[in-house]
Amino acid sequence: MKLVFLGPPGAGKGTISAIAEKKYGIVHISTGDLFRAAIRNETELGLKVKAILAAGDLVPDSVTIQMVQERIAQPDCSKGFILDGFPRTIVQADALARMTGLDAVVNFVLSRPEVVKRLSGRRMCKSTGKIYHLIYNPPKAAGIDDETGEPLIQRPDDMEEAILNRLDVYEKSTEPLIGYYRDKGLIADVDASPSPEKVFEGMDKALKAKLGK
Ligand code: AP5
Repeated sequence: MKLVFLGPPGAGKGTISAIAEKKYGIVHISTGDLFRAAIRNETELGLKVKAILAAGDLVPDSVTIQMVQERIAQPDCSKGFILDGFPRTIVQADALARMTGLDAVVNFVLSRPEVVKRLSGRRMCKSTGKIYHLIYNPPKAAGIDDETGEPLIQRPDDMEEAILNRLDVYEKSTEPLIGYYRDKGLIADVDASPSPEKVFEGMDKALKAKLGK
């Protein structure tokens, strides 16, 4: 199954991807995670994109498209994948259409105030990327990753100014993709406001209805 996860920052795309990749046995590809790994490893790409991510702006299309093209050509993607955070512009969507077909595009729907609450309370493990929330999904011991025991971090782009910029960038550049994919009959709308388990259930139902399974 080849899926794209669309939705505003903080809608829970990464959280639902972690459930879906296990349930469906497909690979989770997050362009945000790939960029953050490059920054952590101080690669040439990482140095190029560090300030862009911190501000909540978009990495240039050419850089992002090439990175995704190389990633989905890997053998582990042959059974399918979830593209989380890609495409984010019409140019990226057109490039993806030249690379591969898709089974569905999941549109996670969440209000702006709830997005801000989720992002400002998000914490993550720097080395594994495991996602927590101070209120909705706290770690067992405050500030510490359950598995590695490492201190949790706050993403630089989860500071208020960057959150508001990311929301503006989403509305301007990415939201038009909902219409783009709706016209192609690929969109499955999913209410992202309940618990992650309920959101997954809602998505699974919507996908089964869409794909006739
Ligand atoms: P990226 O990492 O993709 O960020 P994003 O799209 O802004 O999405 P997030 O990771 O912030 O949110 P999410 O929807 O995954 O929510 P999560 O599950 O973490 O991109 C980062 C940056 O990289 C971009 O700004 C850009 O600079 C660059 N970039 C990436 N892709 C690019 C592209 N294609 N083109 C150009 N540039 C690109 O959940 C959020 C919080 O809510 C967590 O704390 C979680 O615990 C909590 N939560 C989740 N679900 C629930 C729920 N159901 N109930 C209660 N709490 C929940």
